[in-house]
Amino acid sequence: MSEETLDGDFIPLPNWAPPEIDQSIPHPARIYNHLIGGKDNFAVDRAAAEMAIKAIPEAAAMARANRAFLGRAVHHLATLGIDQFLDIGAGIPGPGNTGDVARRVHPRARVAYVDYDPIVVTHTRALAGGADPGLTTVVIADVREPKTILENADIRAVLDFERPVAVLMVALLHFVSPEENPHHLISQYTDAVVPGSALVISHGTPSPDEARNVEARKAWQHAKSQIHQRTAAEVASFFDGLDVVAPGVVPLQLWRPDADVDPDLEVLIHGGVGFRR
Ligand SMILES: C[S@@+](CC[C@H](N)C(=O)[O-])C[C@H]1O[C@@H](n2cnc3c(N)ncnc32)[C@H](O)[C@@H]1O
Repeated sequence: MSEETLDGDFIPLPNWAPPEIDQSIPHPARIYNHLIGGKDNFAVDRAAAEMAIKAIPEAAAMARANRAFLGRAVHHLATLGIDQFLDIGAGIPGPGNTGDVARRVHPRARVAYVDYDPIVVTHTRALAGGADPGLTTVVIADVREPKTILENADIRAVLDFERPVAVLMVALLHFVSPEENPHHLISQYTDAVVPGSALVISHGTPSPDEARNVEARKAWQHAKSQIHQRTAAEVASFFDGLDVVAPGVVPLQLWRPDADVDPDLEVLIHGGVGFRR
């Protein structure tokens, strides 16, 4: 078997990939995995990631900055007492996973990972082997079908919806088109959790240079989902009705930076954390 790159070259398929993994088109999880230096991706994904880097040379650094934001947000919430996480669009696991970060604060933190890419589920299950199944689950589901997540028996077995849950949508919603009404989707999740629960969002924002945006969008044009950048104000509006923690919805490097954050890196991703009243 072989796979075709976007340039039409054929290279041998990696033999570790199970048949349910679609290797014919780039997938957001695997493009991102290449951007953050992972090995769980195919030639089509690497070609798409390289197109993104050509349009936005800082794309790989931005992806790593996004992963770091996820860690800071989870740590912050854990220190505030949250010990249950619904991580939607969780991505291929790597160091600094939601569970790793949360369990440094709450050793028995509960985490449900959700992603629509079966490769994520394969990897997360392999890594979670031996872990307490009562504390972690991983489910293939689509954020655009909230019932399949909120009523999922495996998720309900791990997360107690009578207690606060942090819903994570980190670098996810830019794969949801305006027609799919992300505001309405988000409200279905925030309505399903009790007051004191939290929402974490990070989301791609446009470069001031529109030519770069056009080029960047091309990197995802053949992918399983396309990318929809939204303005900072639009990203902030996803938190309407929630109490947003300081410093608000800001470029990721400004969100509670730690010593590892490079303040000079321009990250075209905004993020924030809000609490349900
Ligand atoms: C850029 S990665 C972000 C991974 C992780 N949240 C992080 O920030 O490090 C986006 C993830 O969202 C997943 N994804 C995209 N659209 C999705 C959808 N409609 N439903 C569920 N997952 C989705 C992709 O498969 C991918 O793993």
